[in-house]
Amino acid sequence: MIASSTDSVSTFDERGLLVVGPGVLGRLVATLWHEQFPTAHVVAESRTPASHGALRSTLPFLELRLAQASAVNVPRFRHVVFCAPPSQNEDYVGAVRRAVEQYWSGAESPEDTATFIFTSSVGVYREPTTPATVLREDSPVVTEPTEPGASPSALKLLACEEAVRAANGTVLRLAGLYNLERGPHRFWLSQGKVRGDPEGLISLVSYHDAARAVVAALQQPQLHGETLVVVDGQPLSRRQICEIARQHPLYANYSMPTFEDDQASTKSRPPGKRFDATQSRAKLGQFKYDFESFAAFMEQMAGREDVVSGHHARMDRA
Ligand SMILES: NC(=O)c1ccc[n+]([C@@H]2O[C@H](COP(=O)([O-])OP(=O)(O)OC[C@H]3O[C@@H](n4cnc5c(N)ncnc54)[C@H](OP(=O)(O)O)[C@@H]3O)[C@@H](O)[C@H]2O)c1
Repeated sequence: MIASSTDSVSTFDERGLLVVGPGVLGRLVATLWHEQFPTAHVVAESRTPASHGALRSTLPFLELRLAQASAVNVPRFRHVVFCAPPSQNEDYVGAVRRAVEQYWSGAESPEDTATFIFTSSVGVYREPTTPATVLREDSPVVTEPTEPGASPSALKLLACEEAVRAANGTVLRLAGLYNLERGPHRFWLSQGKVRGDPEGLISLVSYHDAARAVVAALQQPQLHGETLVVVDGQPLSRRQICEIARQHPLYANYSMPTFEDDQASTKSRPPGKRFDATQSRAKLGQFKYDFESFAAFMEQMAGREDVVSGHHARMDRA
């Protein structure tokens, strides 16, 4: 796909970036991009104006726009990341398709670094049935919404992925995202109960590293039509995630939650998903995670006075 000469100026801004979905991840990506390319034009597109006040005060370099207002004749960007989740989107596949077809300049050659990134989820992989199974980029994905472990959005995400790869964009399947204040640990500890096997494994990645992976992907030449996995090196059980979080001062006063499937027969329990993401790391330029595990992240956060006192550093801020 090659941009036409009538496209407006952002097509020719070599480092221009459009972030569709300026939530926790999108803001981190925008920030990292701006730090690396301070003069680049960075635009954020949201569905509603709800976040615009906060975005204006925290990320003043961002130009803001609304999805509905940008249906026709919008400038194309060489770098686009679609990082809005499927929730609360009636036509999610349509929104992703529009972004890849109408917002992106496309890549002019296989070496071109013009990149479209779609942030999908490891939730699209079929649930393994044996604990020894290690999933890789091309492991089987969900085909039926009724499959055990199939998330309601898995089929929607897969349809989006297909549209993105067909246009030579790249899919990053992200593990469960967390920062200090957001993620499964926060949800479970504040709910006081957990649905699911306490020993079932969850693969995670920090928002910080997920954003770094997106920024790395946005700059890789020859990364077109690929599917990569972004996941840290240590899957943890639901129980371990809660135990680790409770060692941080922010969660020290929370009790361990109750696990609703604690009594289920061990045979009927799916073991959870573990990954070997070696290939993906290589394709992201030998990408190295700053946090190899949730435990390492929490330990490092606990050692930070600014975090404990409530002034969070960028890497864990929402
Ligand atoms: N959270 C996880 O554990 C997890 C796991 C795997 C993958 N992911 C993926 O990671 C990405 C980032 O997630 P996140 O946690 O950063 O999300 P988030 O904080 O919930 O932010 C979502 C943002 O997208 C905006 N948005 C929603 N629909 C939109 C649309 N159609 N067009 C433009 N903007 C839209 C929302 O604002 P408005 O509603 O105001 O527009 C909000 O700013 C998503 O693609 C998600 O599917 C998340």
